Amino acid sequence: MVAAELRPIGIDLLYPTPSTQQLQEAFKGRSLRDLPSPAAVIDRAILEVNCYQMLENCQALDISLRPHTKTHKLQVGETTKDVKFVVSTIAEIEGLRETLLNKKLQGKQINILYGLPLPPSACTRLASLAKELGPQTISVLIDHVDQLNESERFLQLSGQPLQVFLKIDTGYHRAGLDSNSQGFSNLLTYVSSLQKSGSVNLVGLYSHAGHSYGSNSNNEALEFLLTELEELKKAAHKAITILNEAFFPKLTLSVGATPTASSIKALLEDVPSSRSDSVSKLQRLVSRINQDFTLELHAGVYPILDMQQLATQAMPLTTSDVALTILTEVNSLYPHRSPPEALIAAGSLALGREPCKSYPGFGIVSDWGFPPSVTTQGKRKEMRSGWQVGRISQEHGILTRDPEAFELEDGWPLDLEVGQKVRIWPNHACIAGAMFGFYLVVDSRLEGREDEVIDVWVRWRGW
Ligand SMILES: Cc1ncc(COP(=O)(O)O)c(C=O)c1O
Repeated sequence: MVAAELRPIGIDLLYPTPSTQQLQEAFKGRSLRDLPSPAAVIDRAILEVNCYQMLENCQALDISLRPHTKTHKLQVGETTKDVKFVVSTIAEIEGLRETLLNKKLQGKQINILYGLPLPPSACTRLASLAKELGPQTISVLIDHVDQLNESERFLQLSGQPLQVFLKIDTGYHRAGLDSNSQGFSNLLTYVSSLQKSGSVNLVGLYSHAGHSYGSNSNNEALEFLLTELEELKKAAHKAITILNEAFFPKLTLSVGATPTASSIKALLEDVPSSRSDSVSKLQRLVSRINQDFTLELHAGVYPILDMQQLATQAMPLTTSDVALTILTEVNSLYPHRSPPEALIAAGSLALGREPCKSYPGFGIVSDWGFPPSVTTQGKRKEMRSGWQVGRISQEHGILTRDPEAFELEDGWPLDLEVGQKVRIWPNHACIAGAMFGFYLVVDSRLEGREDEVIDVWVRWRGW
């Protein structure tokens, strides 16, 4: 019975990943223009800049970064001593397994946080991974006492206590506990008793500012970050009054989301006086928190970005900062409609059905693939072609006029051809990326070879 429990059913069986080598043999060296579509394309040049920017943001505040891997498996921490991730599925940890074992051999401290409040049935798979990766490598989020029902079993299976972050709700209302609630006090008391019995180890508190996607300026995003920090600090002080302080190590406080994490860029720039108050308040708050706790920043979609992130205006971004495009083809033209429309073979199963508050469509068509006569027409903004994905169903996308593309109206309607390949910036890269088994990688720094596939990155699918 115990042996059977130790053999968890993982992605190797449920969602076998395609062979990277075979994919690379098939795609490397070929032009995007000649490939079957829809396909997900990442521009490595853009992605690297976005990654460095986030590292600079963390350095500005002297805090560490815990990237969320759900959309990519990047920033594994080449330069940092710790390798810390949040994941959205256990499949991602299983996919990262070999990389993590290698990092461990290089002497790095590994910690992977499963990013949903723990479903008890996940314990067997997590315990098997913890056993293989070693002590303190797997952490979980908890916001209900019953999620710890399996902690004793985790200890038996893995030989180590369950590493726990308590999930705090600082305003998003998706998951987590309000730190003023009785539920939070009860959870702390319970965790304390399990810690004494040896099945649990409290690592820290985690909140997530998903509601900061509602920001409309850098200052608003900074304000979301300040609120999150204040709230988590309050929760942490409550925790150490309820718990026996001496018994617990320094707690880690984890805050973030791409808009709030991006807003830190203001610290690195000449800040207009209207914003300098928020910026210096942030610096003071962070250094106060760092005295008593270990502060870390988490973020996920920042290396790739998308139309939703541009809409938050948390930092000055344009479509040229978006690393993911969905490659697709024009299937048909409807010039008789008023205004004219076109059909592409990319609907909700290629782009997602995610809204974007800055416009009513589901993706913006870039000017890639348009003849130069078209791309010089009018006064175009941000490499936008003049078309957007206005309506979608499962595999159909209807291209309609993108009213934001031109400063002057004279550039539209634009000619499209059946069979023309186009690239689309999706509204939410995490959802669009999840529709594909792998990314085709290009590098726009390679002059004359901008459309050549230079690599293929396989995603981990399933849960
Ligand atoms: C728990 C958790 N942490 C971090 C992230 C990363 O957020 P973002 O992609 O906004 O940076 C997510 C994203 O959904 C999440 O669910």
